[in-house]
Amino acid sequence: MDQYAVFGHPIAHSQSPFIHQAFAEQTGQAMVYRAILAPKTGFADAVAAFRAEGGRGANVTLPFKEEAVALCDQLTERARLAQAVNTLHWQEDGSLLGDNTDGAGLVADLLAQGAPLAQARVLLLGAGGAVRGVLLPLLACQPSELVIANRTADKAHQLAAQFAGLGPVRGVGLDGIEGTFDVVINGTSASLSGALPPLPPACLKSGGVAYDMAYGTEATPFQRWGRAQGAGQSLAGLGMLVQQAAESFALWRGVRPKVQPVYDRLMRRLQEGE
Ligand code: ATR
Repeated sequence: MDQYAVFGHPIAHSQSPFIHQAFAEQTGQAMVYRAILAPKTGFADAVAAFRAEGGRGANVTLPFKEEAVALCDQLTERARLAQAVNTLHWQEDGSLLGDNTDGAGLVADLLAQGAPLAQARVLLLGAGGAVRGVLLPLLACQPSELVIANRTADKAHQLAAQFAGLGPVRGVGLDGIEGTFDVVINGTSASLSGALPPLPPACLKSGGVAYDMAYGTEATPFQRWGRAQGAGQSLAGLGMLVQQAAESFALWRGVRPKVQPVYDRLMRRLQEGE
């Protein structure tokens, strides 16, 4: 059987094996997919061992996405700009291609939920790896403006400057957020500690879309903020997780799985605490 895996540290709570196994069943692909806990200083060795055992492809999650860049023979444009790889794909000639499907997953989920992106004003909170990883796919949707707002304003300025050639992107501090946005995306790690970045009132248009790249079994603080602001939809990143997995699966197998049935199964599984 063709072998796939996700590498991370920690990895026990990864939903990727469930998602990819469900995709494989749905599309009739003969493959196995497992989670591998790589030692914090032993990522490259763990990947080499997996390849030696016949590994065909892999996902990479925290904290190895940046380190994975150096292992690859080629990078897709979106992985190069993200400076992070979440998908490893060994090609026919044995060379290793690195891709980053996170941003495409976010965009696919936003569009599937009916969020406007083309000609929309989009506010993106944060300036870390999670935000860097989604900038190119978001700009490719041609928003009228993409504002990166970060607690440390300098990091937002630098990131915006690096992507300035790709679209109308601007960096500000959280206190520099002005006007009203159609879509507000939280790419900070604040939700992970139950926190919410301080945001000006009315920065989300009434009926607009609030999207937290984090997710949990209950609404995140940012999702609750979105609801309180009168968002038309206030979404969490579980859809992005399944969509980015579908992108990886399509790269490996040449077949695009249906996302919604797997999303529904995953949501039930999380709610039941399996
Ligand atoms: P990741 O790879 O998940 O993006 P990271 O690179 O550590 O993680 O970046 C975390 C991001 O969340 C940063 O933009 C950080 O802001 P700073 O650059 O000012 O540190 C942001 N962040 C984390 N906790 C936050 C909080 N409580 N309020 C606002 N922003 C927060």
